Amino acid sequence: MTESSLEGLETTTMAERPELLELMEPALEAAFPEFLNHDAVWFECWPALLDNWPELHVFVVEEGREAPLAMVSAVPIAWDGTPEGLPPGTHATMRQSLAEHAKGTEQNTTCGIQGVMDPEALGRGLGTAVMEAFFTNSKRLGYEHLLSPIRPTAKQDYPTIPLDHYANWTLPDGEPMDPWLRLQTRAGGKVLGVCHDSLVMDAPVADWEEWTGLVFPEDGSYVIPDGHELLVVDRAADNGHYSEAHVWFSYVR
Ligand SMILES: CC(C)(COP(=O)(O)OP(=O)(O)OC[C@H]1O[C@@H](n2cnc3c(N)ncnc32)[C@H](O)[C@@H]1OP(=O)(O)O)[C@@H](O)C(=O)NCCC(=O)NCCS
Repeated sequence: MTESSLEGLETTTMAERPELLELMEPALEAAFPEFLNHDAVWFECWPALLDNWPELHVFVVEEGREAPLAMVSAVPIAWDGTPEGLPPGTHATMRQSLAEHAKGTEQNTTCGIQGVMDPEALGRGLGTAVMEAFFTNSKRLGYEHLLSPIRPTAKQDYPTIPLDHYANWTLPDGEPMDPWLRLQTRAGGKVLGVCHDSLVMDAPVADWEEWTGLVFPEDGSYVIPDGHELLVVDRAADNGHYSEAHVWFSYVR
């Protein structure tokens, strides 16, 4: 078990040090499977999320090291505190956040949408520190509720198992088996439910072939490298459909 804190590390935000984003970009690109670097909804929203709320993108930095150790990004939404009032996943959260901003809706909640460690910093037990950076920053800014649609970090080993089952798998000591879900519960995170279709991608078959390095000559459901779910290929429609579920967590601070 790794204990971690922000001791010896500092946090700062995009608002204070915008130049750190560029230094973090190699890690952001390397952190996820190649196909997620082509998630159209994510990249449609991401620039506006950076522009609108630079103070919600937190960097964990270490003295003497130019690039940040980690970055955790959040978006604000209006939430009534009920599971029924949650957006139906990560994409929906990003879109809701921007739509509310355009309308001037008061937003009382932050949702952590991405936490990424520089590969060199993996295994230092800093996962909890990354989460704490998000919690502390959100509270500093006066947000009432803290949420996150969590993408488990080992689900790719079980792409045929529904997340509703996988998320309940535990180690002998009762903690979640998935490492990232485990850290959420250790930080006092409470599961509010599984959001299906949290991240959905539809793209031409040739694109999927390029992103995965595989061929999809027939219609069917394919295991893809580092995919949490199967890719459903429809040759006639020239479409590959991928839909990932995530776990909604809430945190009290
Ligand atoms: C999510 C992330 C920030 C967590 O950082 P981390 O360095 O793995 O965190 P920690 O070192 O604190 O490890 C957390 C737990 O995972 C375990 N773990 C770490 N790497 C592991 C691996 N490859 N396989 C199995 N378990 C692993 C650790 O042992 C620890 O569990 P323990 O405390 O019970 O021992 C980091 O893995 C990451 O950047 N991943 C890629 C991006 C991502 O998927 N982000 C989450 C969704 S947005």
